[in-house]
Amino acid sequence: MTENTIKHVASPLARQTLQDKDLTRPVAGRRPVRILPWLQVVKIGGRSIMDRGAEAILPVVEEIRKLLPEHRLLILTGAGVRARHLYGVGLDLGLPVGSLAPLAASEAGQNGHILASLLAPEGVSYIEHPTIASQLAIHLAAARAVVGSAFPPYHHHEFPNSRIPTHRGDTGAFLLADALGAAGLTIVEDVDGVYDADPNGPNGKQAKLIRETTSAELAGIEGALPFDRALIEVMATARHIERVQIVNGLVPGRITAAMRGEHVGTIIHTGARHN
Ligand SMILES: Nc1ncnc2c1ncn2[C@@H]1O[C@H](COP(=O)(O)OP(=O)(O)O)[C@@H](O)[C@H]1O
Ligand SMILES: [Mg+2]
Repeated sequence: MTENTIKHVASPLARQTLQDKDLTRPVAGRRPVRILPWLQVVKIGGRSIMDRGAEAILPVVEEIRKLLPEHRLLILTGAGVRARHLYGVGLDLGLPVGSLAPLAASEAGQNGHILASLLAPEGVSYIEHPTIASQLAIHLAAARAVVGSAFPPYHHHEFPNSRIPTHRGDTGAFLLADALGAAGLTIVEDVDGVYDADPNGPNGKQAKLIRETTSAELAGIEGALPFDRALIEVMATARHIERVQIVNGLVPGRITAAMRGEHVGTIIHTGARHN
């Protein structure tokens, strides 16, 4: 007679499929913990801020510098004109989206390095994604802020539903802020918030600022937006971040006010529920 040596590992999910939501809900339906509940995440636009050079960047750096005694920050930078050039060359060559995504992400990283260099006297440095994933807490114990790339590292796994990567800096910043259970996310642009049409477009003069909205309402807007459309989808299923504010980083004081909870741009309510 052979002895049964099978080991049974005790787990509430051991014996069931992970495909059935009714079975997984009792185990997986609980709200995740907030890993860094005091953290403020700030996404700085590539095209709207970084591409403008000193004129836009230096006042933002000064404002962030003054915010450091008050807040601990994860500053994430997006991609701008260099990514657009890469998309142009890459698309002309027929490169797939999985090849274009890491190229664009590298520009978001370059912008982060620029910002981190300017904030280095305050102890701020640029950290890569693996460090954000595993050592953010120790870095933020050593410095009031760190800088990283806002691009999510889908890279060659980027979804092929579009030739331009769909998951860009705004989506990446939101995913990180929500996963960390951060206190807030502020997206810094060169406009006062979200308008009902592009304020710099052909009919820009008639465009009206939307002061407050929801991710569900935005899903119904077909025109251009100042952030990745994929952000709307991830906001809908958020676990922690209940609202995001889009502010104009060209107006001194707006980032500071947003971080203090004041309404100075467009507030977007996500799908995350209070409880
Ligand atoms: N509905 C809208 N509301 C506000 N801005 C919009 C809208 N649609 C398009 N835009 C444009 O988006 C620009 C910001 O471009 P974007 O690509 O988001 O920059 P960044 O790379 O810095 O995030 C604004 O200057 C504005 O002209
Ligand atoms: Mg934007």
